[in-house]
Amino acid sequence: MRIIIINGPNLNLLGKREPDVYGTATFESFFKTLQEKFNEVTLDYFQSNIEGELITKIQESASNFDAIVLNAAAYTHTSIGIGDAVKAIEIPVIEVHISNTFARESFRHQSYIAPNAKGIIVGFGLQSYTLAIQSLI
Ligand code: DQA
Repeated sequence: MRIIIINGPNLNLLGKREPDVYGTATFESFFKTLQEKFNEVTLDYFQSNIEGELITKIQESASNFDAIVLNAAAYTHTSIGIGDAVKAIEIPVIEVHISNTFARESFRHQSYIAPNAKGIIVGFGLQSYTLAIQSLI
């Protein structure tokens, strides 16, 4: 099975950014532990701060992967384009969030991804990604 994790804006700052909300681990170090844990799976990882790059990656991944684990970060709450890209592809997309977006500001309660996601995992810290991969396997 081939799974790609796609992370949106500001998630390159994990470890430094609001550590009380997002933790102190970098995504790169966490990704290594994921690869070791799920060594039967081909795991890839892509991060961009640019909406169009995320849309292009979602489109391309539909041909190259069996599933996407998507944390579109702030674009979750704003991007009709990313929502449409998720709707346009055939492979399953699991929406994940590190924080519990429903326990935060009301603008984080809206998701343009959710209506077309296979499932949604929020609020378990970086383990949200682990749970998403487990669910796909
Ligand atoms: C986030 C939640 C979003 O509301 C926020 O904009 C992020 C990260 C999360 O993983 O908790 O950047 O997607």
